[in-house]
Amino acid sequence: PAVEYGLEAPFAVEFHDSLGSTNERARELAAEGATDTAVIAAEQTGGRGRLDRGWSSPRGGVWSSVLCRPAVPPSQVPVFTLAAAVAVTRAVREAGVRAEIKWPNDVLVPVDGEERKLCGILTEMEGEADRVSWVVVGIGVNLNVDEADLPPAADATSVRACRERAGQEDADVPRRLFVQRLLEAFHDLRGDPEAVLPAWREYASTLGRRVRVETPGGEVVGEAVDVTVPGTLVVETDDGTRRVTAGDCEHLRP
Ligand code: BTN
Repeated sequence: PAVEYGLEAPFAVEFHDSLGSTNERARELAAEGATDTAVIAAEQTGGRGRLDRGWSSPRGGVWSSVLCRPAVPPSQVPVFTLAAAVAVTRAVREAGVRAEIKWPNDVLVPVDGEERKLCGILTEMEGEADRVSWVVVGIGVNLNVDEADLPPAADATSVRACRERAGQEDADVPRRLFVQRLLEAFHDLRGDPEAVLPAWREYASTLGRRVRVETPGGEVVGEAVDVTVPGTLVVETDDGTRRVTAGDCEHLRP
């Protein structure tokens, strides 16, 4: 294990004070032939989100990307994204905040009846149809971030803000320990659907809810009843059971 700055992590770890994007750095490492490496930055100046959006990455957050080379086809890679969501949820719960997962990989916390986002995950990969060459799982957690430093329109919050609202005296979460727990949990779960799915179901706020999912093939509305390998959402609609592999999911009021 890598022991750097007192961090005992199951991956080699590269720390940066400031980077454009940890995903970009992890992709560079992939091009150099590296594997099993986590890149962590104290701030990102060009953080990237899904759907070509930016990702606000002020100091206090945990901006990280894990590079690995699993022997799986691209179709199995969503399991890595679910594993990252479970790992973040577990680490955040250990910090005393009851985070939940919205399918597929949003880590949220209920605040005044609204769900606010604590984390974003951006998974990228390269390879052939039968086997990926590498996978980079980018995990951004709003840990000890001021809510004022987060984009207001994004319905975002931070772990520290949740601890403050709960009346915790010292609301800052020890960063090194949090990163260690996060990387350990991700390491133990990644690529193992047998381990990931039960944990995902336990933490999910989506299951049992009415949802609207915008999929590439149109809108699916109904009750979310399960998630199956490699991360497919099973929705009971008025027209029968639909299996959704990708899309933006909205929880509807009962
Ligand atoms: C989303 O749109 O929800 C995904 C956001 C992913 C952000 C993380 S922060 C660490 C890593 N580096 C990036 O540039 N993006 C990811």
